[in-house]
Amino acid sequence: MNGRSAVTPPGGPEPVRIAVLGCADIARRRMLPAFAADPGSRVVAVASRDASKARDLAGRYGCEPVTGYAQVLADPGVEAVYVPLPVSLHAEWIERALRAGKHVLGEKPLTPDAGVTQRLFALARSRGLVLAENFMWPYHRRHRRVRELLADGAIGELRGFTGEFTIPAPPPGNIRYRPELGGGALLDIAVHPLLAAWLHLGPELEVRGARLRRHPVHGVDTGGAVLLSAPGGTTAQVVFGMEHAYRSAYELCGSEGRLRVERAYAPAAGHPTVIRLERPNGSQEVTVESDDQYLNAVRAFSLAVRNAPNDLREDQSLALARLLAGVHAADATAPATASATTP
Ligand SMILES: NC(=O)c1ccc[n+]([C@@H]2O[C@H](COP(=O)([O-])OP(=O)(O)OC[C@H]3O[C@@H](n4cnc5c(N)ncnc54)[C@H](OP(=O)(O)O)[C@@H]3O)[C@@H](O)[C@H]2O)c1
Repeated sequence: MNGRSAVTPPGGPEPVRIAVLGCADIARRRMLPAFAADPGSRVVAVASRDASKARDLAGRYGCEPVTGYAQVLADPGVEAVYVPLPVSLHAEWIERALRAGKHVLGEKPLTPDAGVTQRLFALARSRGLVLAENFMWPYHRRHRRVRELLADGAIGELRGFTGEFTIPAPPPGNIRYRPELGGGALLDIAVHPLLAAWLHLGPELEVRGARLRRHPVHGVDTGGAVLLSAPGGTTAQVVFGMEHAYRSAYELCGSEGRLRVERAYAPAAGHPTVIRLERPNGSQEVTVESDDQYLNAVRAFSLAVRNAPNDLREDQSLALARLLAGVHAADATAPATASATTP
């Protein structure tokens, strides 16, 4: 394949030879540029159901266009695959890739079913392969800075988390409007603030209530709210939606202050970001130098493939799948109201 002969960084390990399954928007906008910037990765093929799409995108990265995903899995020159397919296809193609001996970077949510997710991780482990779920924002250095501020007592004892992620409506026909492809805002959008809540409030976080708004024609959920709690009474509220004005933020409320992160889940690379800290004696902006979470996430994957095949964030992926199931269960038991079905 074309990209295979590219030069290995002096002294570094051989770059991981990666193929992309599907000419997804996220692959075009974020992941292919990040793979290209990572000295530890080399994209060797782009596969699509459509030969001309594969040709066009592969041409931009000097790698091989492949028609169909199965063909890529049969290629011994491919070591790893990136799977940015619609959610309902993740489990099938991740499993096929693992069975073909490929490491997998799968888009979020890996699967919304904890049992299936667990089985996929067990399969990866049994074969010494890396399986990783592609959450990128935790790789931005400002979240590490947030954890440091919390550990330093900047807001006192943590009492609660509020996370919001809402985006304007995607175009008609988008995978997010197609229930058979795993569409909907819960799986696409809510997963980010739910993960942020879990990372801050701990592994015993549980869903206590949820309400989803459903699209009157397509049936997918287009937004909603979730209430969660952790042992000790710390609470989290998550608001999300995909037919809404844009907002991407989280806030941590403590006994002595508050800490807010704006543009939390998809910040532009290359710009410094700010953490807003409010305390009784005034507010303060903590500036964090620019970072590239997309490159960092890709780098973490290529390093895991080369150095630590079992360094898998299985607990995080399983916890997220359980929270998603908790949201559905809580929504199903919520009393029906007219507003829940009105767009
Ligand atoms: N980590 C993040 O921050 C982030 C951000 C955005 C999206 N995502 C995730 O990335 C995945 C893709 O999202 P996207 O917005 O990039 O979607 P998209 O542009 O619609 O891409 C999905 C791709 O899947 C392939 N595909 C295979 N079967 C399909 C079918 N029956 N219908 C439609 N497409 C099909 C298509 O590739 P071919 O036609 O080339 O085969 C298509 O380009 C989702 O799992 C989403 O949750 C993650």
